[in-house]
Amino acid sequence: MSRLKFYEYKKVEENLKPELLRGLKESPKHISPKFFYDKTGSLLFDEITNLPEYYPTEKEISILKEHIGEICEIIGENSALIEYGGANLRKISIILDHCKGISCYIPIDISTIYMQSSVNQLLKQYEQLTIMAISADFTKSIKIPDIEKFSRRTVLFLGSSIGNFEPQELLHFLMNAYETIEEGDCLIIGADLRKEPAILNRAYNDSKGVTAAFNLNLITRINREFDSELSMKSFRHFAYYNDKEGRIEMYLKVLNDIVANIGGEQIAFRRNELIHTENSYKFTIEGFSDLVKKAGFKVGKVWTDNEKFYSVFVIVK
Ligand code: AVJ
Repeated sequence: MSRLKFYEYKKVEENLKPELLRGLKESPKHISPKFFYDKTGSLLFDEITNLPEYYPTEKEISILKEHIGEICEIIGENSALIEYGGANLRKISIILDHCKGISCYIPIDISTIYMQSSVNQLLKQYEQLTIMAISADFTKSIKIPDIEKFSRRTVLFLGSSIGNFEPQELLHFLMNAYETIEEGDCLIIGADLRKEPAILNRAYNDSKGVTAAFNLNLITRINREFDSELSMKSFRHFAYYNDKEGRIEMYLKVLNDIVANIGGEQIAFRRNELIHTENSYKFTIEGFSDLVKKAGFKVGKVWTDNEKFYSVFVIVK
């Protein structure tokens, strides 16, 4: 029997194009962060996770390693391990190396290409592992085939990807997740914590300019999708920590007036205009605990590093 099943829930890329154009026609202009993750963007994001300024990855990995015994207990036997936004090889390997009760690994990601390469890698590395890869937009509710047949389901949502949701969306996301699992099942969620703004600003304005390249790659993507001719030189990466809102805000700043033909529409860009590309919310332990409870979950464990930069929550249905 084949160890890999691949489900493409819909032509994700096709459905996204109109959404991209719509955001550019609105005022203020905005692009959803899910557009970052084309092939180049996914590689750039991997590079971000290895930057010295970008502490979340190292912190999260050290927390996962420290508590790996408990994580294996949570996962249990004959289990499905579901990962939203899978599969970061460094993180998932820690879990697959230690937790032997995983019958099936189920990554769900919007970027098919990114997932394909990591899934192939994992099949080679773990000769017993079965994988059901699902290419879908996990911000919508998704039905996973045959998920009831496992003794337990554990959902991983790592990297503080929850930070991309607006508070209301995050609540809905958690409520959807609640519906996909059974009584006693857990979610393991990484949440970046609020801290001194200078540290946050450095993490999103790295000295090598990788985050800038990641942000500017959206311009390349627009040109590719719509056959347009925007110049990278007309845009600049801009990111800062909005302390009041508790979030990093990321923009592409327009450097000169432009009128461009994008997807058959004339789109005007004004000098100094800001195109919003991402919010990355930072949490407090109390705030996130409250939200989790509102969605119906119980807070099981809260793990942090000693500087309290980052947290991993285990929440229970
Ligand atoms: C993948 C959403 C967790 O917000 O830190 C990294 C994306 N953007 N640098 C984050 C990101 C700029 C990342 N998340």
